Amino acid sequence: MQKDLERMVEFEFVRATENAALHSMHWMGRGDKEAADAAACDAIQGMFDLVDIRGEVVIGEGIKDNAPGIFLGDKLGRWGKEHPRFDIALDPIDGTSNISKGMPNSISVMAAVLVPEDRERSMVNIPSFYVEKLSYGGRIARCIRSGMIPPITLDLKFERTLQLAADALGKRIGELVVCVLDRPRNQIYVEATRKVGASLRLIADGDITAAVAPSLHDSGIDLYVGRGGAPEGILTAAALKALGGDILLRMWPRDEEERADLLKTHTQEDLDRVYHTDDLVHGENAIFCATGISDSPMLPGVKLIGKTAITHSIVMRSRSRTVRYIKAVHDLETKTIHLHSTHREQAL
Ligand code: FBP
Repeated sequence: MQKDLERMVEFEFVRATENAALHSMHWMGRGDKEAADAAACDAIQGMFDLVDIRGEVVIGEGIKDNAPGIFLGDKLGRWGKEHPRFDIALDPIDGTSNISKGMPNSISVMAAVLVPEDRERSMVNIPSFYVEKLSYGGRIARCIRSGMIPPITLDLKFERTLQLAADALGKRIGELVVCVLDRPRNQIYVEATRKVGASLRLIADGDITAAVAPSLHDSGIDLYVGRGGAPEGILTAAALKALGGDILLRMWPRDEEERADLLKTHTQEDLDRVYHTDDLVHGENAIFCATGISDSPMLPGVKLIGKTAITHSIVMRSRSRTVRYIKAVHDLETKTIHLHSTHREQAL
């Protein structure tokens, strides 16, 4: 019984991200990312109001840029005494700026990890605003495990990392495709990639899909690298638990002030620690799900065709490693979603 609890709720989680995608799509291209985020939060939380779990948000957004959000410590689910306990990480929209500009690469995404009775937490919260991230797919991870290539670390010169990745994938270095979040702080990776002649894919926003991409067999991306949001790194790790790749992650304080603040509650050793997927998400009870809002390497976005909306979602469990792609056709004349703000079902 205990071992299949995730099975009972995984599709409820898909409904939550589907509803967030459907409820925020009206804001596509309208220049109001806060309104889009608020719509997604209301829908995702509204769906959770109907689910028989004791969920606690341990990784969330909202505080980051004063945007509306679901905050750390928020309780999700109906919280009956007998309901299973889940740690929840969520980002109702990863890529809010993309939505506001009508650009690709935004998803609604969440991860939930069952918390066994004898454990306090199942996911690690990284306190810094940004982290250094490097992610690669299963083939590179297997080559490292078998000793075919030496371990890739965050301290290697990036040109060397690229060479190791190429060796593992059986490619020439110039055939590698590297994805980077387009920010001045990531210029070092852009330059190194160009220097060795590998191909670059710069993205404007939304680095969860980008960091998961190397672990998807058909994304065409070999490596993701760069400094980006910390919560997005944990959500990536939840996906990689099922997909079999790995992410390396280390705190990256933005300035001396943030470093000093972090050192009030953490040691230098904590700041220097490199976390891998299994350090970030514990055990084998993780569920990851996401629904596309606008097109990304992971999922197509919401398509409106007459009175129907088509959504594409992905849901995966680390225990079985089954990865499901769910295409749903929603009849907008009958479809309602449950909103947290009104506690009512509402037409779209
Ligand atoms: P949100 O849409 O959730 O705000 O995040 C978008 C995002 O691009 C993340 O995917 C990324 O990790 C982070 O912002 C990067 O932060 P910044 O925009 O401050 O460089």
